[in-house]
Amino acid sequence: MKIAIASDHAGKDLKSLISDYLSLTSHSVLDYGVSVDSEGSVDYPDFADVVASEVSNGRADRGVLICGTGTGMSIAANKFAGIRAAVVYDEFSARMSRAHNDTNILCMGARTVNHSRAIDFLKIWLATEFEDGRHKERVAKIAEIEKRVGNREAE
Ligand code: RB5
Repeated sequence: MKIAIASDHAGKDLKSLISDYLSLTSHSVLDYGVSVDSEGSVDYPDFADVVASEVSNGRADRGVLICGTGTGMSIAANKFAGIRAAVVYDEFSARMSRAHNDTNILCMGARTVNHSRAIDFLKIWLATEFEDGRHKERVAKIAEIEKRVGNREAE
């Protein structure tokens, strides 16, 4: 798979670890920064914007976004059409986010997860298939909401 990845300043060390790990696998990595050598802080929505846009447009198959908690990245990424981003924090949430929610962007918090465990969560997330049946129908309902509401304010 082609995997787009990015982080803000809070997530740069974990992002670099993940990027290095992915480069040893058969996946191809599109790393959009921020560089591990960069100094100062950056704004997580700018990085979520790039990765979510790549996945939404089909230029990347999946995305990985790292910030302090994963929360800001997931909120921003979920603004894009077709994006299902979730904050993953253990093995179970990694597996379920794929099996039940068909997530296409994995978000993690560099300040909230142990970094070596984060690699295990990533492996599970990459290996888990989306389950068919009722889960497919539920995810289709999310797509219907997106189509109906779009970028308009809720009525
Ligand atoms: C940066 O300090 C922090 O707010 C950011 O990395 C992230 O946790 C936001 O959700």
